Amino acid sequence: MLNDLKANNRAWADRMVAKDPDFFKRLENQQSPQYLWIGCSDSRVPANEIVDLAPGEVFVHRNVANLAPPQDANYLSVLQFAVDVLKVRHVIVVGHYGCGGIKAAVDGQRRGLIDHWLHPIREVAEEHRAELAAIADPHKRGDRLCELNVMRQVRNVASDVFVMDAWARGQQLSVHGWVYSLATGLVNDLDVTVRAPRAP
Ligand code: CO
Repeated sequence: MLNDLKANNRAWADRMVAKDPDFFKRLENQQSPQYLWIGCSDSRVPANEIVDLAPGEVFVHRNVANLAPPQDANYLSVLQFAVDVLKVRHVIVVGHYGCGGIKAAVDGQRRGLIDHWLHPIREVAEEHRAELAAIADPHKRGDRLCELNVMRQVRNVASDVFVMDAWARGQQLSVHGWVYSLATGLVNDLDVTVRAPRAP
């Protein structure tokens, strides 16, 4: 079973060692990524490939619709490890246009557990109800919700106590919001970067 994948793996490992004989030995002892990627689980949005980074260079957390919910122990564990231990310089929340999770959040259909997971997106949609209602094209409306969701998750990350504490002790850390286009392979920087705590 999965023999193709195992063959791929052997060929890949051979290629990596051919290019750099110590590659795996170095990584075995230490990872020191500069980036934490918080992205969607969608198979078309693989973190390392999109930004052309090698193993060891990006710490990755992915879930349906790239959420950063402040009560989610999985996300919080990743965030704390990335900020406190790895001391990443950048957290990048990466949504993508055409996200199935975003569509499912607001299409009114019942699917089960995922409806609860996607609840924060319905809150974002409600917050921006007038803006979204003014967009006639349903695809464009969905894409705008992808952007608004990323902006909201950037705020979640930037207001998290782990991040606030890192800033308070003088650690350099920025939180960014991007949306990736499946159609072009390019990321759109939403220009919502947060580099310091908001004034109270
Ligand atoms: Co998605």
